[in-house]
Amino acid sequence: MTFRLAHLSDVHLPFQLTNPWLLLNKRLIGFLSWRFKRRHIHLSQVLDALAIDLKSIKPDHTVITGDIVNISLPTEYRQAALWLKELSDTEHLSIVPGNHDAYVNVRPDRGLGLWQPYMNNEPGDTLVNIMDFPYVRYRGPIAIIGLSTACPVPLFSAAGYLGDKQIQKLDHILTTLNKRDHCRIILMHHPPFASDRHRRKQLRDINPFTNVISKHGVELILHGHLHIPSLRSIEGPDGVVAVIGVSSASASHHNHKSPSRYHVYSIAKQPSGWLITTEIRELDHTPSFHYKKAGLFDLTIPFSRDT
Ligand SMILES: [Fe+2]
Ligand SMILES: [Fe+2]
Repeated sequence: MTFRLAHLSDVHLPFQLTNPWLLLNKRLIGFLSWRFKRRHIHLSQVLDALAIDLKSIKPDHTVITGDIVNISLPTEYRQAALWLKELSDTEHLSIVPGNHDAYVNVRPDRGLGLWQPYMNNEPGDTLVNIMDFPYVRYRGPIAIIGLSTACPVPLFSAAGYLGDKQIQKLDHILTTLNKRDHCRIILMHHPPFASDRHRRKQLRDINPFTNVISKHGVELILHGHLHIPSLRSIEGPDGVVAVIGVSSASASHHNHKSPSRYHVYSIAKQPSGWLITTEIRELDHTPSFHYKKAGLFDLTIPFSRDT
């Protein structure tokens, strides 16, 4: 049986400002960036085309690795909740927050709590405090482990932070999950590697995280944040762990690093390990916005170095 998982990220849903008083904090800078730059890049027409393509692909599950909104306005969280509901139901969609989803502190019942059903361990669980991550959701052969790197940070920073508690919980979760039973897939917004170009944007606790991965391994780590496709790796106990980033889901071709892409992973368990085939779906703008296959690559993940 093959399980198909779609990964998109950095939705940056276009929005309208209805209450200027809410800009009297860090949001003002984010709004000016949106007004003069980002609104020309992140287009609702692109997201509409992506939703149509995703529905034609019919994945078994979809994941979104954060930056669903822009400056954490209460209206943005409500609008995003409607957009998520339109995209898929809570059983078939899992998300983690990004730095733009925690741009400033917002009460959970007006903010991230509205997206809680996509971040529950099981239906009915309550996850309203961003320090309660990670969650684990089991779907078919996969175990989705959702981490939060999102926390309010000072102006002009877009850094991420996992924190000791979350890393300890991850260590415990990976102690209990067997790679022969589940294809273990981590979701996180910030990539777990350093970059000189992006120091103010990077994850602050990369080393404690990679130490846990080196100890237990996982089958895939999916992230967003950089708005470009990327493929890196972390050395795990049974070989390298692929770390895969994807472009912004809403990015048009206009003056941005990379046009919209999303990835579809076909995951099959074989006697010696997991076979994961990745299809890249990329935005094409002629004659109108639509998506096309832009590449295909296989990852073979053995259960152990001996097999
Ligand atoms: Fe982003
Ligand atoms: Fe981000």
